Amino acid sequence: MTTANTTAADTADDDTADDSFYARLEELHTEARWTVEQGAWHPRPASVPMLWRYQDLRPLALRSARFVRSDDSALRVMTLRNPGRGEELATPHGSAPIVGHLYSGLQLLNPGESMTAHRHAATALRFIMEGTGAWTVIGGDRVEAGPGDFIVTPSQVWHEHGTDSLEAPVIWQDGTDDPLVNTLDANFYQLHPDVHQVHGKPVNASLHTHGSALLRPDHRRAQPTSPLLYYPWDMAYQALRDYAEVTDGSPYDGVLMEYQNPATGGSVTPTLGAALQMLRRGERTRTHRHTGSVVYQVAKGRGHSVIAGQRFDWRRNDIFCVPSWAWHRHANDDADDDACLFSFSDRPVLDALGLYAEEASADDADPETTGSAP
Ligand SMILES: [Fe+2]
Ligand SMILES: [Fe+2]
Repeated sequence: MTTANTTAADTADDDTADDSFYARLEELHTEARWTVEQGAWHPRPASVPMLWRYQDLRPLALRSARFVRSDDSALRVMTLRNPGRGEELATPHGSAPIVGHLYSGLQLLNPGESMTAHRHAATALRFIMEGTGAWTVIGGDRVEAGPGDFIVTPSQVWHEHGTDSLEAPVIWQDGTDDPLVNTLDANFYQLHPDVHQVHGKPVNASLHTHGSALLRPDHRRAQPTSPLLYYPWDMAYQALRDYAEVTDGSPYDGVLMEYQNPATGGSVTPTLGAALQMLRRGERTRTHRHTGSVVYQVAKGRGHSVIAGQRFDWRRNDIFCVPSWAWHRHANDDADDDACLFSFSDRPVLDALGLYAEEASADDADPETTGSAP
């Protein structure tokens, strides 16, 4: 017998389900989990491996500077959108992912320009590609930076960018966790009520306070996002060179060091980790894969990476991505000089949730190309 709230499909006395059963489930906004694929499975991200050549993007960034005025937008940014992630094309705030839950864009500042101050719940990183005179004010702390320098912009801290150079533009990569924060429905964005901040601290105050690897200030407090906002290229590269003198490095990453939150010894932010790695002259790493997505920017040199069986040749300022659980290896194609890769990833999130997993290829082949077992 059926009531006003039930149908014949709910109570039919049979051993097999007919179409009306599944139609009824759908009507009630449910679905049968027993019909999905059974057996072992592993991450199969929609994101695909991809490389964006700087020489392709740079002319378009320069062209955008002619018709996008700084006061049109605090974000003269070209988003690098993963071709496997079509469904995110209509992202309301233009923050489609480059890979996984990571965002990447190319930002251009015209000579002498300054952008409007704003803040957001998403955390941002910058890695500078070209141009001198760049500055960013983060929570009143003015950072002055150049090519290869790395900058951290914490969640919900007022920030604004500009350049003092009157000759040439500045171009950098913006990396953010916007897709993750949007997925969590936790993002906010606000323009500064006074358009610009008052910056009351000496230039690069965070570097002078927290930039020593040997000594720390006595007022240090543990905080989840690094109080050090500025990691200059010269210091980072020198640290890598010094370490390379005394280590064999990792067979999968060469000589890799993480940018560190000096207050905790952990990642620079709770959601985004960043690293700099050196591939020594002619070095070719072994193949591995791991959970988590990684965005690479070539900081120095030239080489190639093989990701999920596809070869990507890279040179300085190119950006490429490795989706979660994709086999990958890297090679420096210069026999006379080292190559350096800057990268950022969602590794801190995976670590916090206990979801980081890594697997090495048993041989040096690329399993997806050769079909060999890992
Ligand atoms: Fe921002
Ligand atoms: Fe890796």
